[in-house]
Amino acid sequence: MPTRTSIISFYVVILVLQVHYMYTKDLKSSCSTCRQITDNFNKGFDRTVKQNFGGGNTAWEERKLSKYETSEIRLVEILEGLCDSSSFECNQMVEEHEDQFEAWWFKRKTKHPDLFKWFCIETIKVCCPSGTFGPDCNGCVGGSEKPCHGNGQCDGEGTRGGNGKCNCNLGYKGELCLDCTDGYFNEEKNDTFSLCTECHTSCKICTGPTNKDCDDCKDGWEEDDDEACIDVDECTEDSSSCKEDQYCLNTPGSYSCKACDKVCSGCKGPGPDQCLACSEGFMEEEDKCTDMNECDQPESVCAEEHQECLNTIGSYKCQCAEGFHEEDGACNPAATLEENQQSSEDQPAEHEDL
Ligand SMILES: *[C@@H]1O[C@H](CO)[C@@H](O)[C@H](O)[C@H]1NC(C)=O
Repeated sequence: MPTRTSIISFYVVILVLQVHYMYTKDLKSSCSTCRQITDNFNKGFDRTVKQNFGGGNTAWEERKLSKYETSEIRLVEILEGLCDSSSFECNQMVEEHEDQFEAWWFKRKTKHPDLFKWFCIETIKVCCPSGTFGPDCNGCVGGSEKPCHGNGQCDGEGTRGGNGKCNCNLGYKGELCLDCTDGYFNEEKNDTFSLCTECHTSCKICTGPTNKDCDDCKDGWEEDDDEACIDVDECTEDSSSCKEDQYCLNTPGSYSCKACDKVCSGCKGPGPDQCLACSEGFMEEEDKCTDMNECDQPESVCAEEHQECLNTIGSYKCQCAEGFHEEDGACNPAATLEENQQSSEDQPAEHEDL
């Protein structure tokens, strides 16, 4: 049975972890807010460079113009443009540190021209110099010169948050991002430098760039007599994997099933010349399946009186000859002009039964 104390301490631990999480997350976002503020400050500074106290150009204003450069009025104008009105964190930070901006503007600007460094890193301490992280701006894993040996991102880099560990780029792994993941091999490597290059597309694991350097072939590839990984032709292995009206197309590492040409009944490839047999209404001619002309047969396929045969792709139609129109399944002479017009609207009936 858990005691009351152990239950309470469990919740205390959860609470502490939550607070810790919020705190470290906040430190990262505080730094990016601060960076945005100082970026906007510099933009505001550039924007107001040609401004003066406003209005005309009297001699009095000309004399005062030089003073505007360093005036409180200019500072206020810059401060007003630092945050979107919707950004709570930004506005709060500016409000909280207004006196710091004032101090920098009037007293520190000359000695500390880089506002980001002075304000975000050294004064309110939400950021760190690049290559460093955390409360004390310690060097990232792999050193502050080249965090993660240039093969990853240092967690919290440039902020007072994070843990300084590496999130390695694609192809790299290990605490120092010097090792290669499966599918990549070390093209160059020493204690401080590593270059991982992608294996040949046929390898799962490899030691070099070609298909002969595979330690293990990927699925859909197999070792040949030279121990190189080559494509498996799935289409010769198992022809039943595609449907009857499809053909198998081998691709590197795989295969796909493609629809046969509609003139074919089964096929071994694309087009009317790859049929195994012809579809109904088509016949083989010069090694291709082509449309059969049902109308061009010794015995007429349209038996009714005054009917004529019209060939279509894959089939045929029987329709009334000119001057006749269909009525109750028979072709009658078109007697009057009106009836003639009506007959031209009649749709010829398609014969499916041959
Ligand atoms: C490691 O290799 C890189 C690139 O080839 C080279 O610039 C560097 O000097 C080497 N470092 C050592 C310690 O050998």
